[in-house]
Amino acid sequence: MMSSIARSVRLLASQQQQPRFLPTSNLQQQQVLKKTIGRYFSTDTVFLNGEYMPKEEAKISPQDRGFLFGDGIYEAMPFYHGRPFALEQHLKRLENGLSFLRIPYDVKSNHLLEMFQNLISKNELDTSKRCMTYIQITRGAPMIRNHAFSTPGGEQPTPTIYAFCQEIQYPSVERWNQGFTCALVPDRRWGRVDMKTVNLLANVLGYQDAKDQGCDEAILHKDGMALEGAHGNFWAILDDDKNTIVTHPTTHDILPGITRAVLLEEARRDGRFVVEERPLTLEELRDNVKEAFFTSTTVELKPAVSVDGKPIGDGRAGNVTRELWTLFQKRIERDTGVKMLYS
Ligand code: PDD
Repeated sequence: MMSSIARSVRLLASQQQQPRFLPTSNLQQQQVLKKTIGRYFSTDTVFLNGEYMPKEEAKISPQDRGFLFGDGIYEAMPFYHGRPFALEQHLKRLENGLSFLRIPYDVKSNHLLEMFQNLISKNELDTSKRCMTYIQITRGAPMIRNHAFSTPGGEQPTPTIYAFCQEIQYPSVERWNQGFTCALVPDRRWGRVDMKTVNLLANVLGYQDAKDQGCDEAILHKDGMALEGAHGNFWAILDDDKNTIVTHPTTHDILPGITRAVLLEEARRDGRFVVEERPLTLEELRDNVKEAFFTSTTVELKPAVSVDGKPIGDGRAGNVTRELWTLFQKRIERDTGVKMLYS
């Protein structure tokens, strides 16, 4: 008779997707599954309101304002072999978001690095080249649904804190060189997308629109400008002889990406590029761009090679993008001590 582990493995392998449920009672069983089915496995230890627990046991109230109103902030941070990269900047952005939403949670006194490192080691991701830790802080779960969140006395519910980590699957060098196709999608987000709130509906719909058109990524546009991707910042290299790099300035219209900030520092320090933080018009994107790419915590640099079916440059990842990725990887190496594979 087939064991339950073998059954689960077969089921997951046939579904080729993340399991919705895996048995949690037997830790050994989980380890076996983890080793057997690798990336399909996601029964991890997570952190909820001060406690570590298996993901399936983490329960959040349906009254939670994150669930009812999308009333919360999140942050996603990269770790290389368990070592944080640009953590201070990520925590600063988290603090800014909490203060904008007026959620009373003190980032500094909550020892988040220690919590992330515990999560990473409990999930055995210390040796993983790249992993992401995710934290979401919502305004908690009051008994009554009310748009207003503060009583006249200024009291607020206790925030809900949820965190997890997961391995980042980076594309192979061949896939990276081939590049990623893009669709232009109207930006339907609210006016403060510089805040990393959990309200990602317009990002989700925009990304799905691009997928429905058979593309890998979405470029969100508004008022004739290419702003950013559905989950990453957007960059263009102009078709001139100066290697001019253009990326949108950090207004309320884009998320101020940490990868973006680090790459800007590196590109400026390197000196071989002209760097312009300004909006890019759709006409420029169509007629005057030889390379383009996205940046984010999970993708580092991801080459964009076509827009709505029209190739950018020669329709493959370009050399300037490759050089910038190399600069970025060298920075990771310097800051974390982890040896990176240069492109
Ligand atoms: N997304 N713009 C948007 C809309 C994003 O969602 C992200 C990140 C970025 C890049 O930010 P950073 O370089 O700090 O990761 C820009 C994360 C990874 C996510 O939601 O999964």
